[in-house]
Amino acid sequence: MQSRTALVTGGAQGLGLAIGGRLVSDGFDVVLADVDGEAVLEAADLIGATGVRMDVTDDAAVASVFAELPDGQLDVLVNNAGIISRQPASEFDSVQWDREMAVNLGGAMRCSRAAFEMLTASANPSVLNLASVGSTFGLPQRLGYSTTKAGVLGLTRTLAAEWGPHGIRVNAIAPGYVETQMMRSGFATGALDESRLLDRTPLGRFGTADEIAAAASFLASADASFVTGIVLKVDGGITIDGSFHARPHPAGSLSRTDPI
Ligand SMILES: NC(=O)c1ccc[n+]([C@@H]2O[C@H](COP(=O)([O-])OP(=O)(O)OC[C@H]3O[C@@H](n4cnc5c(N)ncnc54)[C@H](O)[C@@H]3O)[C@@H](O)[C@H]2O)c1
Repeated sequence: MQSRTALVTGGAQGLGLAIGGRLVSDGFDVVLADVDGEAVLEAADLIGATGVRMDVTDDAAVASVFAELPDGQLDVLVNNAGIISRQPASEFDSVQWDREMAVNLGGAMRCSRAAFEMLTASANPSVLNLASVGSTFGLPQRLGYSTTKAGVLGLTRTLAAEWGPHGIRVNAIAPGYVETQMMRSGFATGALDESRLLDRTPLGRFGTADEIAAAASFLASADASFVTGIVLKVDGGITIDGSFHARPHPAGSLSRTDPI
């Protein structure tokens, strides 16, 4: 079987690491790239991948990492690196705004651009972009994050339309609330209310990183060969919940009385 290479940005931990691990199991040679150079080497060791330091906001760093991929081969690019801040929109810090645009949106553009030539030579090339519930909802206190994640959908659709004729599929995965450091930081600061989130999720639980990785595995596979430009929501139904009143929970432990 011909070798296939996947590069996952932000692969040192969380969803990127889980996606990288799943793609290794699927038979890909995986490169994890992360701004945290030490952590990414350890993470790569854990899953049998190659680790490399790369800041997705840095044009030169991105160009040089892509130029050095073994055999100049790339079949799958996963634009996963992401950051978030929580602050009132009326006081939004300009430096942080620029940083969130540069990582969450600019990083996906920069890496996709650098990947294009190599992808055109692949038998089943695809790009996966990490969207969010913030791509669907307006998330108060997360103006930069929600704006970039809405933008990720525009980037996904535009690349899918432009690169379809080259055979390159471009899709987004929109995870719901998944147990990672990013979500735990929301509980720690009080920005997220655990029981409220669970109550408005029809499946009544948080997701796991492996469930997001399974979606990435499908979209990267030949089984998804006619799938492009979509947003695959892996969110337990949180973004389709129309129950604006208290919902009896089967366990009886959760209820919501305040309409939103
Ligand atoms: N965890 C969730 O519940 C959730 C939900 C929806 C969407 N997402 C999205 O999934 C992606 C991964 O989320 P996560 O929860 O694993 O986050 P995380 O914070 O656990 O990991 C993000 C990784 O990105 C890296 N990174 C940050 N800036 C970078 C840069 N400039 N260049 C390269 N790497 C950089 C970090 O070092 C870190 O390893 C993000 O895009 C996030 O927005 C996560």
